[in-house]
Amino acid sequence: MYIEEVKKGMELPETVRIFDTTLRDGEQTPGVAITVDEKIRIAKRLDRLGVDTIEVGFPASSPGEMKAAREIIKLGLKSQVCGLARTLQGDLDAAIDCDVDYIHTFIGTSPLHREYKLKMSKEDILDLSVKAVDYIKDHGITAEFSAEDATRTEFEYLKEIYKEVEGAGADYINVPDTVGVMIPASMRYLIFELKNYIKIPISVHCHDDFGLAVANSLSAVEAGAEQVHATINGLGERAGNASLEELVMALITSYGINMNIKTELLVDISEFVSRITGVKMPPNKAIVGENAFAHEAGIHVHGVLQKAETYEPITPEMVGHTRKIVLGKHTGAKAIKSKLDEYGIEMNDTQFNQIFDQVKKLGDKGKCVTDADLKAMAETVLGRAEREIVKLEGFSVMTGDNVMPTATVKLNIDGKINTAAKTGVGPVDAAINAIQSLVSETADIELKEYHIEAITGGTNALAEVFVVMGDKDGNSATGRSTVEDVVMASVEAVLDAINKILVMR
Ligand code: KIV
Ligand code: ZN
Repeated sequence: MYIEEVKKGMELPETVRIFDTTLRDGEQTPGVAITVDEKIRIAKRLDRLGVDTIEVGFPASSPGEMKAAREIIKLGLKSQVCGLARTLQGDLDAAIDCDVDYIHTFIGTSPLHREYKLKMSKEDILDLSVKAVDYIKDHGITAEFSAEDATRTEFEYLKEIYKEVEGAGADYINVPDTVGVMIPASMRYLIFELKNYIKIPISVHCHDDFGLAVANSLSAVEAGAEQVHATINGLGERAGNASLEELVMALITSYGINMNIKTELLVDISEFVSRITGVKMPPNKAIVGENAFAHEAGIHVHGVLQKAETYEPITPEMVGHTRKIVLGKHTGAKAIKSKLDEYGIEMNDTQFNQIFDQVKKLGDKGKCVTDADLKAMAETVLGRAEREIVKLEGFSVMTGDNVMPTATVKLNIDGKINTAAKTGVGPVDAAINAIQSLVSETADIELKEYHIEAITGGTNALAEVFVVMGDKDGNSATGRSTVEDVVMASVEAVLDAINKILVMR
């Protein structure tokens, strides 16, 4: 919004390169380890997605990392293949041995890193950095230099080190916000300032410790950064890195930047990486979460059904997602009607009102009604006996350890109220026995078949009970019910079948 006015104060580049680090920083997500074979499969998908560079790992750290880098290089992908290396000879040689196209070399530059981690002087760090870039360029490889913890490094020193590595032939300098301490305004300021000194493209690598990784990366782009580091699903050390899917979609739709990413593959790769890493996405995750294009509230559903843009900033197809209308306590009649129409289910107003009431009741109990639930509820309502000769007035069951399951059922049979209490092998059996004893005075009707199914998973799933009942004269009928309580579903299904037989008689 207001982009043309706001853009006047920005130095937006023509395009933004995507440096994907899912296989390196993403693999540093606590608890995540990706095998060589899995790295290859993810790299192929990243290449298809269209990222410019894939950081495939840290070759010096293990033989497996070297193998992964070598195997991925052999695939001949369109994306450049990058290996991470400290500014140390051994690390650089390990990456060079893998034949990578690109080396991302780094060293800590902040006072904390210099004093406590490296125990090195500013001069020695500068010297190592220049030598590392020199060495990479001597081997004809693309060089990216990262001043680790750049955002907590003295600005004068940061400028100096970046200027020196630029002089040594670096192709990119990268600004890591290693512990995610930046805010968008500071990132914008820092990149603007660096742009006055550095001519080669500037890249940023933002961590999400305060949930600002994407916002900070976008601010860097506003100030002219030409490349962003990102990971699928925002994986990475601690709270993770900038999420690739969020960054890309914001750059394209909010900033109008042209990129080579096939956005329609975003959901597919997000699900793939989630399955491989075991890191599940929260349903409300932007762009790729299960709810990113789901609508429940009546007003929203009504709007979306008229014109999707009313409540969607982009189409779900753009990112390979699908729109979902969720039925719950906020759902309006229009949404339920549209779902039933979608499944070709026709019903009269009375039947529809029964479904509507049931959806609302379930919603009030905190349950969402799935498509399978709705279809089963509709089948129940459509198949109901046309007249209720026997009506349920109330029932209770008692069961437990050392207690004979007992059910007390109160029925209205053709205007007369009767109650019976019976035992059974379980509460369902006891309830059916009580119903049969009450109805036996009117007609001898027996249970012939009984099936129960939980429609969707979970202990609060809707139970669908299906019964077949018959009498001595050969009349038989099916009964069905779909409610959350198993005993209630059984009682309703049995009464449904009994009513059908009584109507026949
Ligand atoms: O977060 C960081 O600083 C890194 C470096 C290796 C660039 O991941
Ligand atoms: Zn990092």
